[in-house]
Amino acid sequence: MAQRTLARYLTDAQRESGRESGCDSALESPLIPSDLKFLIEVVSRACKAISIAIGKGALGGEGGVLGEAGSDNVQGEAQKKLDVLSNEILLEANEWGGHLAAMASEEMDLPHLVPNRFPKGEYLLTFDPLDGSSNIDVNVSIGTIFSVLRCPEGADLSSEAAAEQAFLQPGTAQVAAGYAVYGPTTLLVLTFGAGVAVFTLDRELGEFVLTQENVQIPAETKEFAINMSNQRFWEAPVKRYVDEMVAGKTGPLGKDYNMRWVASMVADVHRIMTRGGIFMYPLDEKVRDKGGKLRLMYEANPMALLVEQAGGAATTGRQRILDIAPQHLHQRVPVILGSKSEVERVTGYHQA
Ligand code: AHG
Ligand code: MN
Ligand code: MN
Repeated sequence: MAQRTLARYLTDAQRESGRESGCDSALESPLIPSDLKFLIEVVSRACKAISIAIGKGALGGEGGVLGEAGSDNVQGEAQKKLDVLSNEILLEANEWGGHLAAMASEEMDLPHLVPNRFPKGEYLLTFDPLDGSSNIDVNVSIGTIFSVLRCPEGADLSSEAAAEQAFLQPGTAQVAAGYAVYGPTTLLVLTFGAGVAVFTLDRELGEFVLTQENVQIPAETKEFAINMSNQRFWEAPVKRYVDEMVAGKTGPLGKDYNMRWVASMVADVHRIMTRGGIFMYPLDEKVRDKGGKLRLMYEANPMALLVEQAGGAATTGRQRILDIAPQHLHQRVPVILGSKSEVERVTGYHQA
């Protein structure tokens, strides 16, 4: 059977959604309008470019693409060269096509408005251009995470500062979300809110090819992911749950668990997409004043949508992540996501 490239998949999906919605023209489809299809194609091209840059490692450009950029981002984190480069690749790829009104990134204080010399579109894009920065220099899987929102009608885009308001929509409002993992293979994992599909980059063709549809996270798991070095800072419900998992067969859960922690959210989430598990970056005393470690708009929300679409669950321990009303662009939140019954168990412990 002929391979289904991302372009083919998107075109098919656009036609199907047109039929399902009863639209006369597939171009009026509410699920994948042509602008959204173009947006995803552009983002996928940027991910290809990032994948190529990463693949060059110490051989890329002058002095390689590894190591420090020598600057800090808005969150006070030291930027790696690849954080900066990936951010530039995504901005440049997305600003000219007429599909976006503005973009927001982990690496930029304020939103980036589409320059006036280009037409403006109806979507907003947020991204973590390079997730897992601490793994860049040690050749471990890293990724890109992105989320697409509709720009509210009448949104004030008169300045970068004013534009922040347009982005402050709950995760339920996302029209698409995805991540790329730059690992042994480069993958693109995508949802439009109707299931999750996985594409593998064919490096010879230079195309993402569909390799899995209708991803389903098993409801039960025997694998957990958490940074155990934060143990003494955890709240009681997380302590209780991890203690129970560590107790294994001898504890109340009655089965042995295994632990994995890549320290790239994309890689940890992708493992869960593939074989189940639970991922936690919970609220703890170390991050309490910031609200959590992971960022709502470009880490937690897109991952929560993908995980829910694959049959899993995503909460802060106290609330469904997708229901959070964002207060600001770089807001941080606690994240507990993965296999449904496990997420429900530890979320229940927060209520007890
Ligand atoms: P980023 O590199 O975009 O700042 O994100 C890193 C995040 C996430 O990918 C990962 O799960 C977590 O930080 C790792 O945190 P620790 O360093 O505490 O393990
Ligand atoms: Mn990240
Ligand atoms: Mn990042």
